[in-house]
Amino acid sequence: MDLEGKRVALGVTGGIAAYKAAELCRLLVKQGASVRVAMSEAAMRFVTPTTFQALSGNPVFTDRWDAGVANGMAHIDFSREAEVLLIAPATADFLAKVANGIADDLLTTLTLARDCPLLVAPAMNRQMWSNPATQRNIATLTGDAVGILGPASGEQACGEIGEGRMLEPAEIVEDVAAHFQPKRLKGRKLLMTAGPTFEAIDPVRGITNLSSGKMGFAIARAARDAGAEVTLVCGPVALPTPRGVTRIDITSALEMHAQVMPRATAHEVFIGVAAVADYRPSKVSEHKTKKDDNPSPVIELAQNPDILADVAALPQPPLCVGFAAETRNLAEYAEKKRRAKKIPLLVGNLIQDGFGGDTNTWILFDDDGQHALEPASKLTLARRLIARIATLLENPHAPH
Ligand code: C5P
Repeated sequence: MDLEGKRVALGVTGGIAAYKAAELCRLLVKQGASVRVAMSEAAMRFVTPTTFQALSGNPVFTDRWDAGVANGMAHIDFSREAEVLLIAPATADFLAKVANGIADDLLTTLTLARDCPLLVAPAMNRQMWSNPATQRNIATLTGDAVGILGPASGEQACGEIGEGRMLEPAEIVEDVAAHFQPKRLKGRKLLMTAGPTFEAIDPVRGITNLSSGKMGFAIARAARDAGAEVTLVCGPVALPTPRGVTRIDITSALEMHAQVMPRATAHEVFIGVAAVADYRPSKVSEHKTKKDDNPSPVIELAQNPDILADVAALPQPPLCVGFAAETRNLAEYAEKKRRAKKIPLLVGNLIQDGFGGDTNTWILFDDDGQHALEPASKLTLARRLIARIATLLENPHAPH
C-alpha cells in the first residue's frame, strides 16, 4: 500500500466533481491512509457527510462552530493532525480565497490555519480556469509552495470541452503518493526501455516475448515521483503512460536501438527493462505467407543488437541497470549477464508464477555481491530500485 500509515486531511468544496471525492476518499483509505474529511456548505449540496463518514470511518467536519469539538478549535486541530491537506475538488472561489488569505468558512479557515503541505485539485468550467484572475491565483498559490494537481482537459459537466476537469481519483491518489516520495533524482535525466519487442515475419505475423510492461511502467512512475525527467522507449503494451513521462513507442528491437542510442549519453541513468527479442526474421515477407505455398516453412533468424550492452560500451555511458528474468539458476545466470554486459547493477527476477502479476521477488546484483529484497508490489520494488540508483549516483561505491 502506497500510503500506508499516512494521515491525510481531505477538504471537499462545492463543485459537481464533489461526487468523485467519495471515490477519492475510498482509494486513499484503500492505499493505507487514515483520512479525515471536512466539507464546505456547498459541497454538502452535492454529497452528504454520511458518505464520507462511512468511507473514511471518521466523523466529518462540516461546521466551524461545531459544539462537538472539545476546544471549539476544529479549524486548528484538523490539519495539525495531518501530514498533508488535500482539497479535491477545489473550486475557483476556494482557490481565490486561499490565494488571498481569506478565511470566512470552515474550509478556508482550516486551510489558512494548516501546519502541513497543501495540495489542491482544481475543478471548474474551462472559462473559469482560463480567466486571468484564476491564473493569477494559481501563480500565487504555486509561489506559496501549494501543489496544484491537474486540472485535466476533456468533457465538462456543463457540456463544454476544455481544461478545468478535476483529475480522476486514481490520478490524485498517485499524486498524493508522489508527494511523499523523497525527490532524490530531482533534475536527473533517466532513459529506459520497457515492454516486449515484436519482430515481423510478414504483415500479420511475428515473434515476440511475453512482457506486460507493468514493471517498466512502475519504474518510470517511481523515477518520476523521485523528481527525474523520464523518457520511456517502449514496445507494444496496453498501459497508460504515467503523467509527465515522455513515451516513445516502437515495435522492433532495431527501432528500440535506434531510439535509445542517440539519446543515451544525454542521460545520467539508463535502465533496460524491456524484454527485447534476441532474434528477428532475416527477411520480412512483403505479403502474408500462405500455408498452401509452403507447408513447413523455415524462418531464418538474425541476431538483434544488445541495446543495454551497446549503451554500457559507450565512451561516457550513463549509469546502466539491467534486468534478468530467469526460471532457474538465477544467481549464476544473472551475475554472468551483469559481467558480460559490463553493467554495475542488475536486477534478478525469479519467474515462479508466470509473468504479468503485480508482485515480484528480486535480487540485486552489484560489485558487492547479491542482495535479496523482500517480495513486494511492483511499485514498492520500483521505489527501492530508484532509491538504490540515487545512492549510486551520489556515491558509486556506496555499500548496499
Ligand atoms: O541477455 P538478456 O536478454 O537476458 O538480458 C536482459 C537485459 O538486457 C535486460 O535489461 C534487457 O532489457 C536488456 N537487453 C537489451 N537488448 C537486447 C537484449 C536484452 O537491452 N537485445
